Amino acid sequence: MTLPSKVKIVEVAPRDGLQNEKSMIPAATKVELINRLSAAGFPNIEAASFVSPKWVPQMADGAEVMAGITRAPGIIYSALTPNMRGFDAAVAAGVDEVVIFGAASEAFSQKNINCSIAESIARFEPVAEAAKQAGLRLRGSISCALDCPYDGPTPVDNVLDVVRRMQALGCDEIDIADTIGTGTPKRVERVMKAVTEIANPASISGHFHDTYGQALANILASLQAGISIFHSSVAGLGGCPYAKGATGNVATEDVLYMLHGMGIDTGINLDAVVDTGQWISAEIGRRADSRAGNALAARK
Ligand code: HMG
Ligand code: MG
Repeated sequence: MTLPSKVKIVEVAPRDGLQNEKSMIPAATKVELINRLSAAGFPNIEAASFVSPKWVPQMADGAEVMAGITRAPGIIYSALTPNMRGFDAAVAAGVDEVVIFGAASEAFSQKNINCSIAESIARFEPVAEAAKQAGLRLRGSISCALDCPYDGPTPVDNVLDVVRRMQALGCDEIDIADTIGTGTPKRVERVMKAVTEIANPASISGHFHDTYGQALANILASLQAGISIFHSSVAGLGGCPYAKGATGNVATEDVLYMLHGMGIDTGINLDAVVDTGQWISAEIGRRADSRAGNALAARK
């Protein structure tokens, strides 16, 4: 298959990247991160979560963060909304896209959102309906599409089942997420090919955590299966508090370096992303977890 000439990158560091940080990051730092990412040219930034602060304390300041950022025209600012309470808060905060997030494995659904897959879909129904009425974009995220830290390997049919349910809810985009980063390219290709047989490839994204160093290879496998939307996190920040062993998302700098090197356009300024990755890593007191980012920073 010919590879796409253009890819959409959804930058998830402000949400997935920071949600697992143990020390509380000031809202002002999150605001500056989002403003820097906006200036770097991302078309879509996952900016916040409107979830229970008891479950994810780091994301409790979503409204303050959204109120503080400088909205750049044309950028979609997204937020996670597990229920109507989260949806109402997200709408009040002025998000452009709400994300309902489920799982392809029962155990992870229970651990992450405290309900079964079927219960989660019932909970998402009013959110999806309200999003449509409000004219907001609706995204559905499917965790553990490759493996579950509790249930083991996820059968492709289970992923397809949740994709169909997310489609029935009217999702504009659906994320196939390798939550714990254990997937390898052939398996990723298999699940992406199966998904694109029942969904428009242009509506499917790949969300790869890089825990086992497979994310770039999995992105390449996905590109070859016709996928052209990927999630990544500057400096490789990230991890889900309810997925044992889950570390960061694939680093945006690495993804941009690979895609641009392959002649694939993203519209994003890699140089600005490198600077942002070095800056946020210094802010939270660690070395950036991006090979390309650190190499490019060292050359400056
Ligand atoms: P629950 O305990 O079953 O629900 O949690 P509840 O309705 O009984 O609510 C519990 C408390 O939370 C109550 O407060 C509610 O009011 C409050 P209390 O009465 O005890 O004081 N509450 C809320 N507060 C603020 N905003 C809300 C909200 N909802 C309830 N929206 C619930 C169910 C879904 C709320 C909970 O399990 C939760 O918040 N889970 C979120 C977990 C999460 O954010 N995980 C990380 C994001 S997912 C991820 O990282 C994966 C992804 O990256 C893809 C991948 O890599 O796989 C997307
Ligand atoms: Mg994730």
